[in-house]
Order: sequence, then structure tokens, then C-alpha cells
Amino acid sequence: MQDTDVIEEFHGLAWEGPFPQDAIDRAGNALEAGKLLYFPDLAFRLQPGEERFLDDKISDHSRKNVSFDPITGQLGASSVAGAEEKKLAAMLDRFGRQARSLLVGLIPAYEIGLERARTSFRPVEIAGRPTSARHDDKRLHVDAFPSRPMRGKRILRIFTNIAPDGTIRRWEVGEPFSDFAGKFLPRLRHPLPGSAWFMERIGLTKGRRSPYDFLMLGLHDAGKLDTEYQRAAPRVKLAFPPGATWIVYTDQALHAAMSGRFALEQTFYLPPERMLHPERTPLRVLERLSGRVLV
Ligand code: SIN
Ligand code: FE
Repeated sequence: MQDTDVIEEFHGLAWEGPFPQDAIDRAGNALEAGKLLYFPDLAFRLQPGEERFLDDKISDHSRKNVSFDPITGQLGASSVAGAEEKKLAAMLDRFGRQARSLLVGLIPAYEIGLERARTSFRPVEIAGRPTSARHDDKRLHVDAFPSRPMRGKRILRIFTNIAPDGTIRRWEVGEPFSDFAGKFLPRLRHPLPGSAWFMERIGLTKGRRSPYDFLMLGLHDAGKLDTEYQRAAPRVKLAFPPGATWIVYTDQALHAAMSGRFALEQTFYLPPERMLHPERTPLRVLERLSGRVLV
């Protein structure tokens, strides 16, 4: 595998459009093919006073990331309070707005149905952070949420490296989703009857898991726990320096975050029917492979 298999590069763009037609033509197609859209020179500009947030003590370490909920305006898991907390929330909110503007500028068809989820600030160094295998994002995986059933909805994420000291964020990106899923799907076990209902009932999940959610979580776990796959699977190593931005469907692109600190990230959810190429979504791929309707 080589870089161009997994990356589509864009130079000289700003967060706000209008964007060149060539960029618009390339963006949606590449993204839905599972590629990362990569903007090596699209930095997030800090405002005066915001540099002081670039400190790993800014997260309260109950969780590795500080999060901002754009619906409630609340900041979570940070160690700051009062006026400082408001300023950090404003910084995350600004990043989320710019991320949205970039996304809908490049893929106008996404504007309808686009759901802005949490914004996160990831100050803590990834390398050497203790985790269980299942939670270890240094292992190749596709994203799936145990407590938030997606029922086919897409998970799209926009990252910017804002490290003040030159620290590169290093990722690995693996084989196409259909190849990965084809290997692991036959090994997954069916959930116990009634378990989706039960997990919703006791509040373990927000809403009910569909067969799609069980399969995506199964793929996430089976892939991470397979040490031979993790050792030998094909991959491309990527290095994102400070000032770089990338956009990726993390429910589709097999990815691992190997090292780095100080990234901003905005998550979006998108209805699968709003895709330019619905047949390429994980939902449709898994339905084809399993021969079942999954939502
Ligand atoms: C992940 O989604 O696996 C983590 C990505 C990152 O923090 O760079
Ligand atoms: Fe991930």
C-alpha cells in the first residue's frame, strides 16, 4: 500500500469557501471511498491567550480528552473553571464551526442532515498511555460506540494538529473496509436474543442497537484483539505535523493513532442516505457480505 491509496491532498485552502471546483469534485468521492482528505497547510489559528490551554494538565485525566457539547455549550473533563472554562469552550466551538464550514464547503450535499456532535481537545500524548487492548487506539480499528447505537449513521471526524512544539501526530491506515470486514465478519457471533432490548432498558445504550451496531462493534473488537492481524495487516504510515488538518470517515477507514499530542477534533454524524455513493457505506457493505438487512 502507498500514501496515495489512502490520502487525497488539498493545498492552499482556507476554512471558509468558496472552494475551487476541482477540490469539490475530488473531496466527496475520495472521502466516501474511505480515503483521508489531507490539508497539510490548514492550521487552526489560536487567539491571544489561548496558548495557555496547550498544556496536558488541561484535561482532568478522568478521560483523556476534553469535550465540548455544541448542543448544551458545556465543557466536559477539563481542569479549568469559571472564565477560563468559557474561553476554552469558545476555542473548541470555534474549531467546530470552522470544521463544519470546511466540510459543507467541500461537499455541499452534506449540509442537509449533517449533525454536529462533540468537539474534542486531545492534549495527552498517545504513545505510552496505558489502555486495555479493546480501548487501545494504537491498534487498527474502525470506530463504533458501545453506548451510542448508530443504526447505519456515519461517523465523520475532522482533526487538526495544534501542537506548539512541532510534535507530529502519527497514524497508520489499513486496508479497504470491505477487505477488513470480509476477513472478520465470518468469525463474529450473533448477539443473544433480547440483548439489544435489555441494554437499552438498563441504560447501557442510548437507543437500541441494530444488527449493524452489533457487527460494527464486533469488527472493532475482533480486529483489535487479533494480534497476528495487528502485526501483519497491510498499512500506510502517516505523519501529520502541526498546522495540518485531515477529514476521515472513521467508521470506514481502518486507522490507528500511534503517537502525538494536542489535537482538536470535531465529530459529525451523517445519514447514510445523504451519501453521494450509498453503496460504499459500511452499512451497505456489511449487508452485501452478510446477505441480511441490518437496520
Ligand atoms: C482514534 O480515533 O482512533 C484516535 C484518533 C486520534 O486521536 O488521533
Ligand atoms: Fe478511532
